[in-house]
Amino acid sequence: MDMLKPILERRSHRSFLDKSVPEDVLENLLKAGMFAPSAMNSQPCEFLIMKDDEKRARTAELIHTWSMLKNAPLGILVLMNTNGYRASTKEFIVQDCAAATQNILLAAQAQGLGGVWLGLYPKPDIMKEISRIYDIPDHVKPFSITAIGYPYKELRPHRTFIEHKVHVDKY
Ligand SMILES: Cc1cc2nc3c(=O)[nH]c(=O)nc-3n(C[C@H](O)[C@H](O)[C@H](O)COP(=O)(O)O)c2cc1C
Repeated sequence: MDMLKPILERRSHRSFLDKSVPEDVLENLLKAGMFAPSAMNSQPCEFLIMKDDEKRARTAELIHTWSMLKNAPLGILVLMNTNGYRASTKEFIVQDCAAATQNILLAAQAQGLGGVWLGLYPKPDIMKEISRIYDIPDHVKPFSITAIGYPYKELRPHRTFIEHKVHVDKY
């Protein structure tokens, strides 16, 4: 597969067809999250599949930019498990879970799905509310949500190569 294609064609999708995501496709998304790099290979990310409509609707109400979560067939909550996490890698846990989140979005794109990253870390009140809805223990912290489904419409890539953002040897 052309690796660049899903990267260059990915867009944030916020409306979805009324079609569920098959289990094998979902497993690929989770696998992509698990295969992300992590500091010292600490693999601190866990994944909570948000299948329950009522809980997803309650979550969608926490932030006004999350309304699409109500109509998405699937949500994946990426979690930071801080247990057993070495001090030397602790400061990288956010980056580890960001890499996992992006891997999920790219795996979605590669499989004909679309999704959008919903940011929640580092908002303590929102993280607490989500932990309450999904019974998440204290040592595990919500990091992000990806709302995923089959896109309602195609979205064209909207980026170009920007030369002035690239620096060689010196800023
Ligand atoms: C950390 C982060 C938080 C985001 N939070 C939201 C959000 O709450 N709601 C939303 O609709 N999109 C959210 N997005 C998606 C961005 O709005 C989107 O990536 C950006 O507008 C660029 O569009 P594109 O992804 O189609 O290239 C978030 C993206 C990131 C990386």
